[in-house]
Amino acid sequence: MVVHQKTTNFLIAKKIFALYLCGGTHRGNSFFVAREICDAARVRFEPRRSGRCLIVPSGPSIFLVKIVPPLPFLQDTSVLIPSSEPRSALAIRYNRAFMLRYFTAGESHGEALVAFLSGMPAGLKIDQIFLDRELWRRQQGYGRGGRMKIERDTAHILSGVRQGMTIGSPISVQLENRDWKNWQESLPVGEGDPSKHKRVASPRPGHADLAGALKYNFPEARYVLERASARESAARVALGAIAKLFLRELGIEVLSHVVTTGAVTLPDQVPWEKIRALHAREEVLLNCADPEAEQRMKEEVDKVLKTGDSLGGVFEVVAHQVPPGLGTYVQWDERLDALLAAAVMSLQAVKAVEIGAGVTAAFAPGSAVHDEIGYTASSGYTAFSRTRNNAGGIEGGVSNGQELRVRGYLKPISTLRRPLQSVDFSTREPVKAAYERSDVCVVPAAGVAAEAMVALTLARCALEKFGGDSMIETLRNFQGYCEQLKNY
Ligand SMILES: Cc1cc2nc3c(=O)[nH]c(=O)nc-3n(C[C@H](O)[C@H](O)[C@H](O)COP(=O)(O)O)c2cc1C
Repeated sequence: MVVHQKTTNFLIAKKIFALYLCGGTHRGNSFFVAREICDAARVRFEPRRSGRCLIVPSGPSIFLVKIVPPLPFLQDTSVLIPSSEPRSALAIRYNRAFMLRYFTAGESHGEALVAFLSGMPAGLKIDQIFLDRELWRRQQGYGRGGRMKIERDTAHILSGVRQGMTIGSPISVQLENRDWKNWQESLPVGEGDPSKHKRVASPRPGHADLAGALKYNFPEARYVLERASARESAARVALGAIAKLFLRELGIEVLSHVVTTGAVTLPDQVPWEKIRALHAREEVLLNCADPEAEQRMKEEVDKVLKTGDSLGGVFEVVAHQVPPGLGTYVQWDERLDALLAAAVMSLQAVKAVEIGAGVTAAFAPGSAVHDEIGYTASSGYTAFSRTRNNAGGIEGGVSNGQELRVRGYLKPISTLRRPLQSVDFSTREPVKAAYERSDVCVVPAAGVAAEAMVALTLARCALEKFGGDSMIETLRNFQGYCEQLKNY
């Protein structure tokens, strides 16, 4: 197939090209393409307007796309893709880009954070109280710094939601930074007064300061930490809350709890009911399901508060009622475990991700690891049952119908009240690393941010599987699939 970019029919060419990349099967001047590929790629043909291609339903879920000559937009040679050439990598890129997309903007002490979410079907009810509670949960936990006393995050939705419902258009959310009033003079958008600028004179080991300053050629690290800071994760939590509302419609819930703080670790897997009960609490200490262990975790934080040090830890995100079949083994970047690992690892200070019992499994024989299969389940998507869940709900990059369990390992916070050795950016002389008001332990908050990333990843995979521009359409497809599973 040949597509020329300068033609006036470029848009039509692009659409055909997109479908072709997304997996259409080529046959001369025509190609077959599955309906779900059209839906997933959000590609719509308008044959009457183009007059250049004919869409013929060929079976219930296949379209035969016939390209009707003359083909001015297919005659030149800017892009040439022989039909025999493997197209999978390009196809995935294109396809994935059209599913649930999101990104965030904003500096830690700027006026506001902004987050964008595109691809959410229309007709999803938005619960503002739920969004704000999720933001509140991210601000909690013993060991947080003074900043959390200043901020009272609330998700101010700017677009994509009307009369309490998503309308299919991109959703944008703004989170005001209350601290901005203290930074207006030192971080102005305009030129401002350079004497008011608050330098970060010596990079903190473990933070982004040095790597960021070198990369962006800044003389010191102020602008680096403004964006590298985990304040950004609040914006992800706002979007994650919307993803959670979507997942809730499919019966899926996502929550987290703390497994480790400093030297204290829970030995056993915590059942879902206990995690849910934890979530209902109005006060968050260390978000640990075992009250006795939680007290010992608090003592760990007290120790570092006294000594000017910091702590890391481990959180676990659990997704309940995930249907089998999200993610796939067919391509490396479509595996659910890989997607979740990237999503959770993308959070500030997360340095390792574990699916199920992934880490201990590496040291045990297969018979002690793999989850034996039975056919005795009375609830769930199928009657297939497991004796345990070491796989964490994923086998072969595909959800298997078990609870999804993902752990994130956090390094200790890098801003220390008793700072480590560093170098002055200006003089290059040895000095102590900079100190700025900071958290000392953030494991519960990181867990909440990771819930958001897991929810966004599952929502994206669910939309890839079930498609739909409206919730009615998505739910109909989902229910059809559940029916298929029941009848399997
Ligand atoms: C919820 C949360 C809050 C955080 N708060 C702080 C903080 O107050 N001070 C700090 O130095 N690092 C904090 N961090 C960690 C840094 O943002 C992170 O270490 C830094 O951006 C460097 O990125 P990296 O650790 O992923 O390499 C926090 C992380 C999370 C998840």
